[in-house]
Amino acid sequence: MRVLLIGSGAREHAIAEALAKNSQTVLFSYLKSKNPGIMPLSKSCEIGNYSDLGKIKAFAAKIKPDFAFIGPEEPLGNGVVDLLNSLEINTIGPTKSLARLETSKSFARNLLEKHKIEGNPKFKIFNKSSISRAKGFLSELGQCVVKPDGLTGGKGVKVQGDHFKTKKEALDYCFEILKTHPSVVVEEKFEGEEFSLQCLTDGKTVIATPPVQDHKRAFDDDKGPNTGGMGSYSCENHLLPFITKKDVDKGIEITQKVAAAIFRETGEFYRGVMYAGLIATKQGVKLVEYNARFGDPEAMNVLPLMETDFAEVCNAMIGQTLDRIKIKFSNKATVCKYLVPNGYPGNPAKNQKVEIGKIPNGARIYYAAVEQKDGGIYTASSRAVACLGIAGSMENAEKIAEEAANSVKGKLFHRKDIGTKKLIGKRVRHMQELLK
Ligand code: GLY
Repeated sequence: MRVLLIGSGAREHAIAEALAKNSQTVLFSYLKSKNPGIMPLSKSCEIGNYSDLGKIKAFAAKIKPDFAFIGPEEPLGNGVVDLLNSLEINTIGPTKSLARLETSKSFARNLLEKHKIEGNPKFKIFNKSSISRAKGFLSELGQCVVKPDGLTGGKGVKVQGDHFKTKKEALDYCFEILKTHPSVVVEEKFEGEEFSLQCLTDGKTVIATPPVQDHKRAFDDDKGPNTGGMGSYSCENHLLPFITKKDVDKGIEITQKVAAAIFRETGEFYRGVMYAGLIATKQGVKLVEYNARFGDPEAMNVLPLMETDFAEVCNAMIGQTLDRIKIKFSNKATVCKYLVPNGYPGNPAKNQKVEIGKIPNGARIYYAAVEQKDGGIYTASSRAVACLGIAGSMENAEKIAEEAANSVKGKLFHRKDIGTKKLIGKRVRHMQELLK
């Protein structure tokens, strides 16, 4: 089974590892940089940009894969799936039009509204000709969130109370966004605890992987600037300490309705990952946003736990037979901690040597924005190495992840609090306060 994987981050390293567990898989990888984890798992690799559609097409035509898996949002937004489909290559990942679920914040909000699917906040979309009405709408909201209507690497969304204080600042940010984006989404702010529900779908059936909580802020105790995600955890009971099974079921129900609405709206089945960014609030589970791919780091929490053959799951997504398989995950806790270059995210120390020491039992290392060269591994400008601890309890998974993170040497830092009793306790108390 020849598989083309596109993407060169830690998420794609985890995808490559999961696919390679099947001894029939022969992996070919298209990478933006020489990822030291993906390369040894691949029969051959091509290095290129995600926007170089000619290069991707030539590589795919040469290797003739049975299917392709697209890891990151950038190639999805560039229409790589449409390109591969034109070569009659089956692909896991939505076409450019369906990837709007992630690439256009207004598409997702409008879809939920039109199809009367629960989970939306109060929201309005403004462009240059309607922005004069934004001031009035902002005054109707309690606290607000301002989102550029496009991809921003998770760093363009600004939240009142976290990134700015007043409605005047919100309006100023709307004007700033309109200089670079066609529109801006203004929403009511939800108060609650966020979680990621990564669902696999063939367009008809939706299957959830265990819920995960990510940590966006750069420093311990949720301080510092927003990042792509500094680490994440999942629990052995496949819930999180601040949500119930009913909350997870609500997230699945919303996603099933969205998958059906996408088909009704476009006539196309969505094949791939629908990652629902959800929030548990006093009013129930709400939708923060959708992503059209696995989360990074959240992929590392769920793929290593998958007991069902992932290549078989991918074939079921392509053949629309997900309803006929049962996807099993082991009942283990996971904690993932990202090592990032000193100065990240604003001014990361680039081109610095990273040395991996002795990895403890139960830990796994996933390579992200690092490059193999001159006989060593060097940082680029983003998250460098993800350390995953897997164990029967959260306490042990955290200890293992922390030990693994401390074994990696270089001009790097990580959050020591992810997966700790103290931080999880804070999340639980926050939820209890809200539900009072
Ligand atoms: N962990 C956030 C994301 O993958 O977008």
